[in-house]
Amino acid sequence: MHSGRGHWASRVGFVLAAAGSAIGLGNIWKFPYITGEYGGGAFVLVYLGCIAVVGMPIMLAELLLGKLSQRDPVGAFRELEHSRSGWQLVGWLGVASAFVILSFYSVVAGWALAFFARSVMGVIAAGADPAMIGGLFSELYANPTEQIVWHAIFMGVTIAIVSGGVHKGIERWSDILMPALLMMLLGLFIYALTLDAARDGARFLFAADFSKLTPDAVLEALGHSFFTLSLGMGAMITYGSYLGRDANLVRAGTWIVILDTVIALLAGMVIFPIVFQFGMEPGAGPGLIFKTLPLAFIQMTGGQLVACVFFLLLSFAALTSAISLLEVAVAFFHDEVGLDRKVAAGGIGGIIFLLGVPSALYGSFFDFMDQISTNYMLPIGGLGIAIYTGWVLDRARAEGGLGPGVSAGLIAAWLQVLRFVTPVLVLIVFLHKIGVF
Ligand code: PHE
Repeated sequence: MHSGRGHWASRVGFVLAAAGSAIGLGNIWKFPYITGEYGGGAFVLVYLGCIAVVGMPIMLAELLLGKLSQRDPVGAFRELEHSRSGWQLVGWLGVASAFVILSFYSVVAGWALAFFARSVMGVIAAGADPAMIGGLFSELYANPTEQIVWHAIFMGVTIAIVSGGVHKGIERWSDILMPALLMMLLGLFIYALTLDAARDGARFLFAADFSKLTPDAVLEALGHSFFTLSLGMGAMITYGSYLGRDANLVRAGTWIVILDTVIALLAGMVIFPIVFQFGMEPGAGPGLIFKTLPLAFIQMTGGQLVACVFFLLLSFAALTSAISLLEVAVAFFHDEVGLDRKVAAGGIGGIIFLLGVPSALYGSFFDFMDQISTNYMLPIGGLGIAIYTGWVLDRARAEGGLGPGVSAGLIAAWLQVLRFVTPVLVLIVFLHKIGVF
């Protein structure tokens, strides 16, 4: 049943694929707009703290569960427990999350493609009518047919890459898309540095004014640290399961977390200088990059090129994340049900496409899918993974699994954080979200 499970061909390939999962709409669309909404620097500091205290330990736990079991998220718990057990529910929840998240994620990725097309065709270009540009997003939002077409194209590309397998599909494309993404982002960053408002952008991101920090901001930061690192639904279990037994998870995990964080900050350092340079507001919410940024693009020389690069970069980032979401479900149906990878990718991808259609039609359905996954499924999954790894998993396997040469002190600290700190923090967020406080 497990024949034909792939493996990463190189360490760099693995890190790029996993970083590709982590780096996505969460970094370039969501991080800047929530930072804008919550007032900047203080929020960013709390976010960085959450990444270090909650994100990094769970990242290691997920990679470990995958590497030890060499299975999909459901099979991983069965394999590690040597039998069926309630812990498999955590894996099931992860597979369900893949369906829910990818369905609306692909709709947003479709918006990115639509805006890329508008940039290429010169609709978003210097001198365009601001009123028309300001209305572009609402126009797309009110056009289900166009949204569904882009959503279908995006899912089609995702299915094609996942069908190619771990090495020949996912790794090969990550090796191309991730360096391209980095180059484009660096290019935009250098451009942003030339703007007079670069300093204002940096100040907004990095000067912490704690009087602006609300409890809601802290909770949002914690929730976002899960989403942005692809944690709590088994994506990193699945990617870790294609690693060899001698992989050093601490080194790989550190790279993934650092790359994800640096890219989010770079995206902020591109977007905020542009926003301030052209006298816009940073707190526009989810429309920040689809409504506010285009208004800036049309005022700048070379704005069309900058717009093309920006929306292509956004599409690439979304694609490598979507690949990992589909892969969680494909790995499950391949490992547990014995389905052929291509059949699984096409079938599941098709179902997820259909599940996404209502999100393109009804904003309320979109919000529901977004809320239920980010606020409930990922934190519950992450809690399960932290408790399982900290309290249930065989101690010797947990201690020996991170890789050769990892210090005993680091391992002990990691387990203590997983046992106490992570569960308490996640529970606080969760109780707040459901309105207990
Ligand atoms: N980490 C991705 C992003 O930031 C989203 C994602 C979540 C991908 C969960 C896989 C699993 O956009």
